[in-house]
Amino acid sequence: MSKLGQVFLVGAGPGDPDLLTVKALRLMGTADAVVYDRLVSPAILNLLPPGTRRFGVGKESGHHPIPQDDINALLADLARDGLTVVRLKGGDPFIFGRGGEEALFLARAGIPCTVVPGITAAAGCAAAVGLPLTHRGLAGSVRLITGHGRDDGAPDIDWPTLADPACTLVFYMGLATAPLISANLLAAGLAATTPAAIVERGTQPGQRLIRTTLAALPEAAQGCRPPSLLIVGRVAALAGQLGQPTTWLEAAE
Ligand SMILES: C[S@@+](CC[C@H](N)C(=O)[O-])C[C@H]1O[C@@H](n2cnc3c(N)ncnc32)[C@H](O)[C@@H]1O
Repeated sequence: MSKLGQVFLVGAGPGDPDLLTVKALRLMGTADAVVYDRLVSPAILNLLPPGTRRFGVGKESGHHPIPQDDINALLADLARDGLTVVRLKGGDPFIFGRGGEEALFLARAGIPCTVVPGITAAAGCAAAVGLPLTHRGLAGSVRLITGHGRDDGAPDIDWPTLADPACTLVFYMGLATAPLISANLLAAGLAATTPAAIVERGTQPGQRLIRTTLAALPEAAQGCRPPSLLIVGRVAALAGQLGQPTTWLEAAE
């Protein structure tokens, strides 16, 4: 029986390879096998040594080509074969990445697992388009929220708790549910004119910033494709104005 290997649960950041951590890059260079998600950009996969075994287990909203149980089993099998495995995930493994589920599974299976944080989409996209998530006088807190629920249904959110004009709301996976997000936040009391922004393909080639308002968010979302991040709050009015080189569009009011 071979010696037990180990798994590194590594955040790859929002797409720009320059935003990988030094630790992520070092582990990618020494791993025997890399199991990666669809959100991990080709530019990052190109940094893997040619001999590294690669397993793409990408998931798209509504499509789950490889069930989570099979991904868990793959990680465990590779480690039981004595391999050093890098489980590479977009952004940070513990922000809407099911990293907690994988780490729990491995812990219960007795397989050593180390988590390496990455820059989550909220931080990466906001920096890329010059949108400070907090800003004195505009926003004193941030909420990271999933825009879709289990089984691709509506998210289970206590909307009134989000109706704070001084809190920046960042919705992951929110393109398809933008009408529901907008309607619920308006009903909860946020003003229709509350600034909003969508960052499409943040930090990657083809990045776009769309500035809009809470009321016009659904229409703006219709013209966007995943991966996109929805940001609602006063700070969104600053997007594109802090000198960042970014493609940006003003959505119709
Ligand atoms: C399953 S979640 C994974 C989040 C990831 N673990 C993180 O920390 O960023 C996928 C969602 O993250 C957001 N996202 C990830 N990368 C992005 C990018 N480069 N630009 C815009 N949104 C991104 C999108 O909302 C996308 O639907």
